[in-house]
Amino acid sequence: MSHALFEPITLRGLEIRNRLWVPPMCQYVVEARDGVPVPWHLMHYGSLARGGAGAIIVEATGVVPEGRISANDLGLWNDAQRDGFRPVVDLVHGLGAKIGIQLAHAGRKASVYREWGVPRSGAMSPEDGAWQTVAPSAVAFPGLAEPVALDEAGIAGVVDAFAAAARRAVDAGFDFLEIHSAHGYLLHEFLSPLSNLRTDEYGGSLENRARLLLRVVDAVRGVIEDSVPLSVRLSATEWVDGGVTVEETSQVVTWLGQHGVDLADISSGGNVAQAPIPVGPGYQVPLATAVKQATGLTVAAVGMIDEPFQAEQIVATGLADIVLVGREFLRDTSFGLHAAERLKVQLPYVPYPYQRAFRR
Ligand SMILES: Cc1cc2nc3c(=O)[nH]c(=O)nc-3n(C[C@H](O)[C@H](O)[C@H](O)COP(=O)(O)O)c2cc1C
Repeated sequence: MSHALFEPITLRGLEIRNRLWVPPMCQYVVEARDGVPVPWHLMHYGSLARGGAGAIIVEATGVVPEGRISANDLGLWNDAQRDGFRPVVDLVHGLGAKIGIQLAHAGRKASVYREWGVPRSGAMSPEDGAWQTVAPSAVAFPGLAEPVALDEAGIAGVVDAFAAAARRAVDAGFDFLEIHSAHGYLLHEFLSPLSNLRTDEYGGSLENRARLLLRVVDAVRGVIEDSVPLSVRLSATEWVDGGVTVEETSQVVTWLGQHGVDLADISSGGNVAQAPIPVGPGYQVPLATAVKQATGLTVAAVGMIDEPFQAEQIVATGLADIVLVGREFLRDTSFGLHAAERLKVQLPYVPYPYQRAFRR
């Protein structure tokens, strides 16, 4: 009987009931464009917790209005938003899962229509409320508007916004936080030589390119309790020459660990429009394993981990400490229960009617 996947894991004293977590996935359902959670979020995050996930990471949530990807994203730059998250947090807690939130700034990839392209896709038009995007350098992501390069005051504003959002997240009851530094969004844009052409102390060497991320981490750590675990999501490779490498990522993760980060959530890509990404089952797992081996930090693997035995094997053989299952958990919001059934594990936290359903 195998059950590494359903063993608890502890981060900074926070015990999480298993290692099968749900990664952040934007829902783009805030019709009021005010960043405040809506009933959909209760249904969505509640069903994932009910479906057996150990922890759920709430979708990319803008730390400032212009840091949202689309106008329909969640935000955490005011207290109304904080209060709106409380019922979501309470519901997930009531179901025995832990809940984190991904704090994000979309940088030059902000101000787009929501992904499904209704009424339109790509860069928002001014009449629909497009805003000026910001980035390390005035270099557009292909197809999107040219961003303004952040000056020192702008950089300080970003750092402060992450810290303020972090405080609000903890006040809303979130168990842990994740800082989004992947997929071509602002902090990744600073890390990558492909989007960061700066010649000041934020550009050039890896140390300089990582400076903003480490400042954000320090500021966040400075306003939250020591007991709150902190995760950072990184694109470990960009899959193209000249981009961030796994070796560089490992160095960044070493620094992150020294600055009080507890978990490296290892993804890839997103900062270039066309990259030869070898998409397939578990294609990013080797990146997580490489970072884990180089740094010793706790790592989460993500990306086409769709099958219970595959997830079990990743954890059981130490390729990663946690697996994040995204789209498969949307296809089957009982994925955790189905995985437990396949692995022949009895989950004590499954509500009785749902246990009964599995007895046939
Ligand atoms: C609808 C959707 C929304 C997503 N939104 C986010 C997000 O907000 N933040 C993030 O870091 N990744 C986001 N992702 C990427 C997922 O977290 C995950 O890394 C990716 O889907 C690969 O895992 P999977 O194959 O298990 O789905 C999103 C993916 C999907 C499908």
